[in-house]
Amino acid sequence: SSHFSYVNGVLHAEGVSLATVAEQFGTPTYVYSKAALLANFASYADACAGRDALVCYAMKANSNLAILDLLARQGAGFDIVSGGELLRVLAAGGDPRKVIFSGVGKSVAEMQLALTHDILCFNVESIPELHRLNEVAGAMGKTARISLRVNPNVDAKTHPYIATGLKANKFGVAFDDALATYRTAAKLPHLEVTGIDCHIGSQLLDDAPLLEALDRLIELIDQLGSEGIVLRHLDIGGGIGIQYGEAGEADPVPVGDYLGRLFARIDAWRAERHAGVPIKVIFEPGRSIVGDTGVLLTRVEYLKHGEEKNFCIVDAAMNDMSRPTLYQAWMDMQPVVQGQSEAQTYDVVGPICESGDWLARDRALAVQAGDLLVMHCAGAYGMTMSSNYNTRGRAAEVIVDGSASCEVRKRENPADLYALESRLA
Ligand code: LLP
Repeated sequence: SSHFSYVNGVLHAEGVSLATVAEQFGTPTYVYSKAALLANFASYADACAGRDALVCYAMKANSNLAILDLLARQGAGFDIVSGGELLRVLAAGGDPRKVIFSGVGKSVAEMQLALTHDILCFNVESIPELHRLNEVAGAMGKTARISLRVNPNVDAKTHPYIATGLKANKFGVAFDDALATYRTAAKLPHLEVTGIDCHIGSQLLDDAPLLEALDRLIELIDQLGSEGIVLRHLDIGGGIGIQYGEAGEADPVPVGDYLGRLFARIDAWRAERHAGVPIKVIFEPGRSIVGDTGVLLTRVEYLKHGEEKNFCIVDAAMNDMSRPTLYQAWMDMQPVVQGQSEAQTYDVVGPICESGDWLARDRALAVQAGDLLVMHCAGAYGMTMSSNYNTRGRAAEVIVDGSASCEVRKRENPADLYALESRLA
């Protein structure tokens, strides 16, 4: 993101030197740019201007309360996948009426919580879930608004761990079963069928698979309409990817271009066959809202020159950022201060007792022990996927706004980590 740049050889987030952030808050620390976040959200909001559309930020990507608050103030809704995420939305001052609830394993307690707060919609993923939700809503004297997550069976052409729209995935209802499942849902007394959704995968650089999925959803909406099941919203999921900067990586489609093409298709469909029926369009972006807004700031502990490899051992580890080891994801790493020494090729690794504890491999880096490094594009699926393995407290989180920086999550202390534990009596 352009909100991170070198000023006199020192990397800054907006107007703040990352060396200053490290001094003030220590390392490892996630550092986010508020301006970058607002710009990313605006790229969706601007493309939706004047339309009946809602951007439900997929908060699994980054659920810090300060980030949720900033997005809620811009009018964002939220895509949640647990009761815990709903409680975060409420704690951040978000509007539960703009919340949609995704996920294959919603518990009774989660359904009750969501119904109590009258969320916008449950994105239902199976027939047993329909029946459970109907019972829970009935017992509470409520009606649950639902959408069915349909599996359009398009190949998102992304990493198999994050492709979700194929037949072999656990997600959604098979396209061929969708009509029958809608008929079942329409008969259940405590459900109100309001929409259709899908999510075909994450980190899609091309929008062609998303537009293909849209066509399949439209096909179903037309068929349902002819049976008297009239849908009021269409949710195309998340998925547009970001540029991580790996050599040979394709350029991601700009959000505005993707949304422009998507709305053009919807407009054409409505002009041709769906005139007069209003339909709200919902998006569930995660990575493209927060991914490039954050860096993981870390300090080099040691340089270790081995027989086959050189290791740059830093104070961040796979518990802080698991994307590299989990998905073989390539994440860019750069020194905070440029031109300090000669570049050498290193594997950047953390202190955890696993060979899988690596952040980057075979990188030319000009660093010495004690220097600061950043991992770029760490704003999405970084902090939210972190763990306490090796009794490592989670990193601090800082948001930079112009020349100000604010710690929005304190670093965890070891005592926090075992506070819920006790010895046998
Ligand atoms: N909606 C649903 C139902 C999802 O499952 C996801 C992501 C999203 C929206 C947001 O997708 P996005 O816009 O961020 O692509 N941890 C992995 C990514 C997992 C994505 C899971 N679902 C990673 O670090 O690459």
